[in-house]
Amino acid sequence: MAEGGVNAALGNVDPEDSWESHFKDTVKGGAWINNQKLVETLTKEAPERILDLEEYGALFDRTPEGKIVQRPFGKQSYRRTCYASDRTGHEFMATLVEEVRRRDIDVMEEIFVTNLLKTNNTVVGAFGIEYKTGDFLVFRAKATVLAAGGTGRIYKTTSNAAQDTGDGYAMGYRAGASLIDMEMFQFHPTGMVFPESACGRLVTEGVRGEGGILTNINNERFMKRYDPRLELAGRDVVARANATEILEGRGTPHGGVYLNISHVDAHIIEDRLKTMLRQFLDTGVDIRKEPMEVAPTAHHLMGGVMVNEEVATDLKGLWAAGEVTGGIQGGNRLGGNALAGTQVFGKIAGENAAKYAQNVEKPSIDLAQVKKEIKHAQSSLERRKGIRPVQVRTKLANLMWDKVGIFRTGKELQEAISEIGRMQMEEIPRLYATGKGTRYNHEWIKTFEVENMVLTAEMMARAALMREETRGAHYRKDLPKTDNKNWFVNIVIKQENGKMMFKKVPVVMTLLKQGA
Ligand code: FUM
Repeated sequence: MAEGGVNAALGNVDPEDSWESHFKDTVKGGAWINNQKLVETLTKEAPERILDLEEYGALFDRTPEGKIVQRPFGKQSYRRTCYASDRTGHEFMATLVEEVRRRDIDVMEEIFVTNLLKTNNTVVGAFGIEYKTGDFLVFRAKATVLAAGGTGRIYKTTSNAAQDTGDGYAMGYRAGASLIDMEMFQFHPTGMVFPESACGRLVTEGVRGEGGILTNINNERFMKRYDPRLELAGRDVVARANATEILEGRGTPHGGVYLNISHVDAHIIEDRLKTMLRQFLDTGVDIRKEPMEVAPTAHHLMGGVMVNEEVATDLKGLWAAGEVTGGIQGGNRLGGNALAGTQVFGKIAGENAAKYAQNVEKPSIDLAQVKKEIKHAQSSLERRKGIRPVQVRTKLANLMWDKVGIFRTGKELQEAISEIGRMQMEEIPRLYATGKGTRYNHEWIKTFEVENMVLTAEMMARAALMREETRGAHYRKDLPKTDNKNWFVNIVIKQENGKMMFKKVPVVMTLLKQGA
């Protein structure tokens, strides 16, 4: 779903760019709580991973000399965001799928994994359900890589795909892995606001990178009041600015702000913003001639399963990569750094998991755990009444948007936590799926998703209440200052004796000291 691009300090447009500059921008952008070792790897290795993709056949847009072209993205010192028009993520996916087929790699599709399986405190695979048959599947694995994406669907309005329901965070937590920075959720400043069916759909940062201007109903370029970088300030700042304009009554008829690119040559829009042009034409708006209406949309969780420099989790046998991991992007991710992260850390996770697998025996599976999974899976089918997943999901999405959103207060977070607790006690055990049988029973699968969403929401809300300051994307209206004395820490979550435990861990700075 990522559109606008991928960061790599290739220096094709701005030759002064370097991995060091990309590193510095990422740490500063991340409000200083990133794991700097991981940021170093990300920024040093991103250029090579772009070249891998190119070798596999990805078609990036070009400079007149034929080099991969790069556009400016928010809060970055140079133009370093490589792109394939405004469908960069799609180009990645299509290319990688082809490469997987070319290498004849076995793929099992349409399976919902409910939990990781463990033997002797080591991850030994996973339990899943095949959509098309409803069969239960046990994967026995010497090594496992968790790459389950994010959790945008936990919010009422989101840019995320339907399957981004926090499953990886919940599975990791239940298996006993540590999670980090779960309070740090990014709202993208610009999502569509109408029609209702398109609400939240991403309007790429590429629009602002190509010169798009934000204005309010009074035709004021309001970013002047918020940040000297204007539309290319950090995402946290632009999202809050857009939200403030709307909340204070300077919004558009559909409850957004205007994003205008019509002053840019039509052929540039047609070439570099093809998806935007089409997606707005579908709603009757020609962005070559008139402004878009946009508002913040839930986009990316910076927190997630904690990994070390080998991208191993603290559970033996388990690696993780992509949005499901935390610690890399800190308190606020730079646009374009997520796609870079998938390539850099996906490769490292795969290689390390493969090396490990070569040196261990085939593990045995704990049948008691499998039986427990089957019993749990069958329970929502056997229950003939109770509460349907969509009911819980809708309530949760509104609750998260209203109380664990762009702006938070201690009181609202408390209220969210107690409502989430009530859902866990009273509603999750009563979830049931209608529909006959187990084949393609989407509602059945949604019962697992909702359980994962509620657990993920609890981690996010409780970490947000614990962090008594404002930092990056975490804005506490009741505590609007950054407090480096007490909160220059990561919040680490782990399940201990069935309880959710939170720990403050001081941030380690390796290359860059705060204030440098
Ligand atoms: O705005 C965008 O195109 C999104 C990019 C990202 O989140 O990295």
